[in-house]
Amino acid sequence: MSFDPAALRRQFPLLAGDPELHYLDNAATAQLPQAVLDALVAHETHARANVQRGSYPLAEGATEAYERARESVRRFLNAGRADEVVFTSGTTAAINVFAHAFGARLAAGDEIVITRAEHHSNFVPWQLLRERRGAALRVLPLAGDGRIDLARLAEAVTARCRLIAITHASNVTGALTDLAAVVSAARAVGARVLVDGAQAAQHGPLDVQRLGVDAYAFSGHKCFGPNGVGVLWVRRELLESLPPVFAGGGMVGRVSLEETTFADAPARFEAGTPPIAQAVGLAAALEWMLSLPWAEIRAHEERLARRLLAALAGMDDVAILGPRETRERLPIVAFNLRGIHSHDLTQVLGDGGVCLRGGHHCAQPLHAAFGVEASVRASFALYNDDADIDALIAGLAAARRTLR
Ligand code: ALA
Repeated sequence: MSFDPAALRRQFPLLAGDPELHYLDNAATAQLPQAVLDALVAHETHARANVQRGSYPLAEGATEAYERARESVRRFLNAGRADEVVFTSGTTAAINVFAHAFGARLAAGDEIVITRAEHHSNFVPWQLLRERRGAALRVLPLAGDGRIDLARLAEAVTARCRLIAITHASNVTGALTDLAAVVSAARAVGARVLVDGAQAAQHGPLDVQRLGVDAYAFSGHKCFGPNGVGVLWVRRELLESLPPVFAGGGMVGRVSLEETTFADAPARFEAGTPPIAQAVGLAAALEWMLSLPWAEIRAHEERLARRLLAALAGMDDVAILGPRETRERLPIVAFNLRGIHSHDLTQVLGDGGVCLRGGHHCAQPLHAAFGVEASVRASFALYNDDADIDALIAGLAAARRTLR
């Protein structure tokens, strides 16, 4: 299948209906293609019932659709087994579930390695664990180019290290992490690797077996799917060993006055009614993604990022956060315009139809490393094109006139 960004954009009703809308906030959430909207409406219209409970045909059909969604996630991640997939409400919930389950086994003095580039979702859960379990946190710094300084891995990953929790790509700089180096440092001391894939998953199917990591978290809404659903994938042998986190219906074997036994994974981690239509919608989004020509899409996204980086590098009042090259990065570019607050800039650009995020992007330790409180971020997805960059560049010129 050949790739035509304009044809792809026409599959997104919100974008197709408004040619003046330049949606460049895809790192916050991506838009929904018609195929996903149709799958959501079809499920809620014709197949809605609770799952894993009823034995009438409608309920059995809903359970089958929910379990088929697990298989779509398996395919998207190229995981070994569908029962390694736990549905959560999003990346934040996935990382928190993992932190609680994995953290239950930690002893005082056990170490967790995180990095300065993490989103707060992969930072604060580990700080809580430090307080509650006495675990020690080691934080990999950023190198001079704004990427995670993996040259410091050998020093940070000691014999007490139990886990490296690291982002696949920064939600601010777009820099991709060399996970092979991380996995090899973890293996050398018998530690596990959890990856925050919230950003990376939007840019094409993954291969957790090739990556060699132990756990991977991502969200539906950043992958052209619904809100309120996400995935925690955990290698089966590790998942089986983890205790439950949330307790309630659906995660038990037998409950008596004296004791409760628990269901096998993944049900053990899915207490209560799960996000059923959302999982079905996520499956539609991932199947849609699996049908796309990713080599061409990645080249397109890279070209857009290169063009924006070159334009910004040519403006003497712009400071880019992080790497300026497109090698090993997602099409996410954060910057500041001298003397103009990020919120003022995003408001003026927003009034002109250019949607960017301003602020600290839930990554305050990263911003502090760059010596700033906040930044403006443009993040491209497969439906963006040169017209979006033209509008952004024109918007910056207008903002200079309005705000200075
Ligand atoms: N984590 C999302 C972002 O970076 C919301 O904008």
